[in-house]
Amino acid sequence: MAHIIDGKAFAAALRERIGAKVADLITRHGLKPGLAVVLVGEDPASQVYVRNKGEQTHAAGMHSVTHRLEASTTQEDLLALVHSLNADPAIHGILVQLPLPAHIDSNAVLAAIDPNKDVDGFHVVNAGRLAVGLPGMVPCTPLGCLMLLKDHLGSLTGKHAVVVGRSNIVGKPMAQLLLQADCTVTIAHSRTADLPALCRTADILVAAVGRPEMVKGDWVKPGAVVIDVGINRVPARDPEAAAAGKTRLVGDVAYDEAAAVAGAITPVPGGVGPMTIAVLLLNTLTAACRSRGLEAELAEFA
Ligand code: GUN
Repeated sequence: MAHIIDGKAFAAALRERIGAKVADLITRHGLKPGLAVVLVGEDPASQVYVRNKGEQTHAAGMHSVTHRLEASTTQEDLLALVHSLNADPAIHGILVQLPLPAHIDSNAVLAAIDPNKDVDGFHVVNAGRLAVGLPGMVPCTPLGCLMLLKDHLGSLTGKHAVVVGRSNIVGKPMAQLLLQADCTVTIAHSRTADLPALCRTADILVAAVGRPEMVKGDWVKPGAVVIDVGINRVPARDPEAAAAGKTRLVGDVAYDEAAAVAGAITPVPGGVGPMTIAVLLLNTLTAACRSRGLEAELAEFA
């Protein structure tokens, strides 16, 4: 059986270290990292994410502000808020929760965020910095996956990494990070020919497609490390419970089958998921330190 990579424990330990560093920065430099989260509308999943972000930011000792705007908010008003947060010296990180209502152009809003405060790493400037290897803000979920991989494997040099999924939020930045870590990287997607055979060549298999249990056990090379980025809600296993509307969370990987073959695997829940907010806090800490020329404070998190 595969080693189970405990993202929940790793994330909790990372949050502890971030909290300690925040307390230290406040004492020695009078610097309190600040994160502003902006939610437009009432999407239930987004409300849960935003509440968790606010609570964990606060728990890490950071300055935390949540702006909840009506679904009818105009793009102009949202852009005005982003501009005011860009100019606010107490705010080092800005996150506009996606998806935004259909009448708002998400790209225009993401482009308005100061790249140095773009703790999501979604701004094209940060995508460019990542592509050319300059310091920037790296998207939270792929950075969290990389941290789990390095913790488990040590060096990633020479490994064949297959990333299934080509989104701007996970697949593409994940591939860039693995390339930077000296992997040989293949990006696969829904149109890839013979996806199972390609996946079987992977030493590191990252599934980020958003399709429940798509990656089967016989797609996994024996001993490979499997990172499951998917979080999909499906009907409960028990038919009666399912009929009553009960659900369960599954990843993009058929966990039981894959765990029987893999060397190591992240579970869902408790794998990659908890890393996302922990890395958001790390990115906020990073942005705060950089704003004051205190990059040296970040050495222990490298
Ligand atoms: N919606 C779901 N995940 C995310 C995320 O990581 N960042 C933002 N901004 N919106 C999201």
